[in-house]
Amino acid sequence: MKLFIDSADVAQIKEAWSWGIIDGVTTNPSHVAKTGRKHLEVYCEICAIVDGPISLETITLTAAEMAAEGRTLAKMHKNVVVKVPITKEGLKAVKILAAEGIKTNVTVTFSPLQALLAAKCGATYISPFVGRLDAVGQFGMEVVRQIKTIYTNYGFQTQVLTAAVRHPTHVLEAALAGSDVCTMAFDVLEQLYNHPLTDLGIDIFLKDWAKVPKA
Ligand code: E4P
Repeated sequence: MKLFIDSADVAQIKEAWSWGIIDGVTTNPSHVAKTGRKHLEVYCEICAIVDGPISLETITLTAAEMAAEGRTLAKMHKNVVVKVPITKEGLKAVKILAAEGIKTNVTVTFSPLQALLAAKCGATYISPFVGRLDAVGQFGMEVVRQIKTIYTNYGFQTQVLTAAVRHPTHVLEAALAGSDVCTMAFDVLEQLYNHPLTDLGIDIFLKDWAKVPKA
């Protein structure tokens, strides 16, 4: 499973990229707003750091506008993936962009049937928001599993990108469900390294090593 960082914080992205475990980046308007910086500057810096798919989100509402925005974003760098919301207009834009060879990530997805529509329009990625479903009392990961089943049943090439991940267990469940990608915040990525028994084990080894006679 590919791991993406879900952030527009250039320092975090640079740090996570240096670890050698991330394959790409997803941004969204909220992440960009948090930086307090101009979006194009942020996007250029991310493209210079990460050699992998980088999702940049459209902020218009009609298919024609989203397609135009997508073309402009895609011209920025070969790794840009145009993020489009799963509306009727958004999916019309996805179809237009796909025909032009521009990759898309269909976002704010909450149902397997929405995901079916996105695949039919040629989406490169579909992003179900599992944490937001959990927050309203639904099982977010069940949607990932259902999308995976539908895509396998019909041989769709659209990749499942599990998003709105809140903790390492979401990442584990995504991997077990066969999600192609999982995107997560910097702190969740960092948590993937941790296990108390690893810390304890290293501590024991170092204490024992101190008892070994030195030449
Ligand atoms: C994914 O591409 C989205 O940017 C992200 O995961 C949104 O989730 P959140 O805002 O609920 O964390």
